[in-house]
Amino acid sequence: MAEVTMDKIVSLCKRRGFIFQSSEIYGGQNGAYDYGPMGVQLKNNIRDFWWKEMTQLHDGIVGLDASILMHPRVWEASGHVSNFTDPMVDCKQCKSRFRADQIDLNGACPTCGTKGSFTEPRNFNLMFSTHIGANADAASVIYLRPETAQGIYVDFKNVVQSSRVKIPFGIAQIGKSFRNEITTKNFIFRSCEFEQMEMQWFCKPGTDEEWFPYWREQRMAFYHKMGIRPSSLRWHQHGSDELAFYAKDAYDIQFLFPMGWQELEGVHSRTDYDLTQHQTFSGKEMNYLDPETNERYIPYVVETSAGLTRNVLMALSDAYDEETLEGGDVRTVLHFHPQIAPVTVAVLPLVKKDGIGEFASKLEHELREDFATFFDVSGAIGRRYRRMDEIGTPYCVTVDYDTLQDNTVTLRFRDSMEQKRVAITDLVDTIRQATKEYKRLGE
Ligand code: GAP
Repeated sequence: MAEVTMDKIVSLCKRRGFIFQSSEIYGGQNGAYDYGPMGVQLKNNIRDFWWKEMTQLHDGIVGLDASILMHPRVWEASGHVSNFTDPMVDCKQCKSRFRADQIDLNGACPTCGTKGSFTEPRNFNLMFSTHIGANADAASVIYLRPETAQGIYVDFKNVVQSSRVKIPFGIAQIGKSFRNEITTKNFIFRSCEFEQMEMQWFCKPGTDEEWFPYWREQRMAFYHKMGIRPSSLRWHQHGSDELAFYAKDAYDIQFLFPMGWQELEGVHSRTDYDLTQHQTFSGKEMNYLDPETNERYIPYVVETSAGLTRNVLMALSDAYDEETLEGGDVRTVLHFHPQIAPVTVAVLPLVKKDGIGEFASKLEHELREDFATFFDVSGAIGRRYRRMDEIGTPYCVTVDYDTLQDNTVTLRFRDSMEQKRVAITDLVDTIRQATKEYKRLGE
């Protein structure tokens, strides 16, 4: 196993079209990133994998897509206007800004090295605000949502009344969130614009004690199913000094990123805090009438809150490897689970001439119905395999002279580099089966 550094990941991402700095030609925009052709496919695959797991495979979870712009009172009710802050200090010498809890306030400035140069810590609200409408006055202030969860709470009644859901049930949502983060280092790990995949599980007060461990187990199992190595995942329970203002209890799933163990997803026990707050601030009842017992109560909530863009960084970091091959060549390879790989099957004609190129192109078109495909005719076959390894393509199909005679192709597996001859009529099933049975080598 080669050492995985953030520099290597950043460089591969740019080189192979996964992730670019936003507005790069203007010198870049801090805290914002663009997902290139490979990156958007990887992100969408992880998004779809989560969405399927939540809304298709799990009982009692429905989807929602709430708007980013919400009534400003939402954020007063949720506590974000008064509580969603980080302590911040500035260096008086070089004007760099830091989170007070991330540096030694008695030490030297990490940027210019000056000692004793920090201002007193002050609280800094992480919400981005802007104005809606033509007047930029206090009455027109509106926020870009800092989490998707509040859209779910605010629509709780709408969903209950329109969807025949019965407690316990969940509402799942994926979408953009925005935070004015003071420190945005570590690539896409902490950005100002990012995506979240959140699910709020509404349950009867008291039963949250059972659902909380249930959801912790489910969420860890999800990452194992996505092919992430279990040894790179662990739990961290929040101490009382770490708990968010809304949480009764909270655990993070941490992943071993190139810069160390860091939060990937939070599983939070939020009680009836949010629905009660919205009931108070909106004046609208947020309770639930149990159709069997006729009991009315405000449900308790167990939340699972994952960063989609942070999941992308996890997938890249977990997949990355440099392997020394026989003969001394080194290949860079991304060992993505085939379910999330941006390209599933590459079709490579051995040569362009003698009808082999056309045959391969036709085959690639046929495979498009079943898989995300890629067609590559240029360069030596070994170099083409390397290019596919570098973007994590699990299967390469090579068309050669024999193919024209017997309708078979060479199927090459990314991880083992094993090659086998497969009849074209069996190709789709063979790839599907290999995907179902996929296990990372050595795990
Ligand atoms: N609704 C609860 C909530 O938002 P959080 O712990 O603040 O909880 C949940 O965020 C997840 O969202 C984090 O575990 C992380 O994966 C992701 N996330 C939060 N802030 C982020 C940022 N600035 N950049 C990228 N991902 C972020």
